[in-house]
Amino acid sequence: MISGLAKAWWGILHSQLRLEATATKNFATTAAIGTSLQGLAIDSRFLVRTIGTNSLGAVLFSTLAFFCACYQVDSGKPHAGRLTAFGTLRLMQLDTTLTNPAMNVDPAYSCSNASVTSPLEQEVDCLTEALSFKYEELSLIREFCQRLDLGKKTSTICRLLLSELHGCIQATTLAIELDAADDGDRDDAYGAEAIELDQGAAELHLHGDEIEASRLRWIVDAAIRQRNRVQGIREQEDCKHEDSQSSTITIANHLCLDGELYNAIVVPIERGGQTLGRMIAIRWQNEDEFGTTEADLMRSTSMMLGIHLVNQRQYDEMQLMFEGTIQSLVSALDAKDAYTCGHSSRVAELAVRLAGRLGYDEESLQRIQMAGVLHDIGKIGVEDSVLRKPGKLTDDEFEQIKIHPVLGFEILKGIRPFRKILPAVRHHHESWDGSGYPDGLKGDAIPRDAQVLAVADAFDAMTSNRPYRDGMPIERVLKIFAEGRGTQWASDVVDELMLCY
Ligand SMILES: [Fe+2]
Repeated sequence: MISGLAKAWWGILHSQLRLEATATKNFATTAAIGTSLQGLAIDSRFLVRTIGTNSLGAVLFSTLAFFCACYQVDSGKPHAGRLTAFGTLRLMQLDTTLTNPAMNVDPAYSCSNASVTSPLEQEVDCLTEALSFKYEELSLIREFCQRLDLGKKTSTICRLLLSELHGCIQATTLAIELDAADDGDRDDAYGAEAIELDQGAAELHLHGDEIEASRLRWIVDAAIRQRNRVQGIREQEDCKHEDSQSSTITIANHLCLDGELYNAIVVPIERGGQTLGRMIAIRWQNEDEFGTTEADLMRSTSMMLGIHLVNQRQYDEMQLMFEGTIQSLVSALDAKDAYTCGHSSRVAELAVRLAGRLGYDEESLQRIQMAGVLHDIGKIGVEDSVLRKPGKLTDDEFEQIKIHPVLGFEILKGIRPFRKILPAVRHHHESWDGSGYPDGLKGDAIPRDAQVLAVADAFDAMTSNRPYRDGMPIERVLKIFAEGRGTQWASDVVDELMLCY
């Protein structure tokens, strides 16, 4: 797409500038292919010399160079492409970008011989600088978006954003302050102009020099007061209001606190009319003032952060709802079979412990924890008289009990997040020698999660007290496991159990 745009711009340029044939061929090739910014730089020097009296041509050239710079970045060399692009865009720096002797540049085209002092060239420089900032803004948003991940903690995302932003904005301190998500007085608190960091802030993330929260609060409040004063004066003078979007961004320079001067930008982090927090940039005394360029950059990134925060909070709510669903299922089972109340939670705890020793990663640990909690959920479908029978079961009753892994499988299989635990739920009563149920799987054919669950399940069943019997002593339980190692249970799982006790 970029090369197409480059061709289109080149067509306009050609009619505007009437370039020499040789240069036309060289430049058109470079722009169309867009693979060499250094090549573009060579031709751009010629163009600068050629279009010296044509401001429209200068604008077109700057735009074309910007598109080609984008193309270079899209080709897979973001930082190198970016730096080269800026070097190319900034006409004053053209000579410093041309270091390849193989290009055999005609010295007559060199920009260093021409002093950039005319109003037109200054205009071109300003335009290219503005394009550079816009390009920087787009690059920052793109890199930030690539790193957004709902699985990451908000604090991690904020630190990433501040780090990326610090590469674009020269600030002494950058801060992201997030308001509490579950504030009962949320609307009132968010609507307030005065910012109370110690009351409403849930999180405060800093990058750069450390600053006390009280000092940060003073600077933010002072910045907003200054903005309100200036805004009020403008409204009186102009008898008109600024648009609501721009009025929420605060740029305040020369704020004096304890003899020190501060420059600050405060940008709200918003989404759907709701303020989620604010982004703050601070420069201390003897540093440049902030301007709209930095504010625009912060506004763009704060918008992206606002979208992410809303998505993150919805994701967290869904996660809570999911966990609540699991707990409801477990509670239903505990209510049905009071004898084994708490069994599922204990099995899950021991299974996670064993799995951790066996080298499970974090995601797998979460999976087996869920499987442990829900492994006996199929018992909901077993008759109460069988499930609650205190004495020994008849063969017929035992056959009824044996269907609970399949029932659990059938109950959970229709819910997508539970699909990953289905093998463990279905096969947690399989035996290593193939004598288990429901499918008589043998050895490594038994899913690994089910192997771990089988050990944890049996250990808890043997050691826990029931109303009709006491749990076995641990020594006897371990002796049973030693005898069943490699016949009923997986040997390495039993070994880890032995090491735990
Ligand atoms: Fe079971």
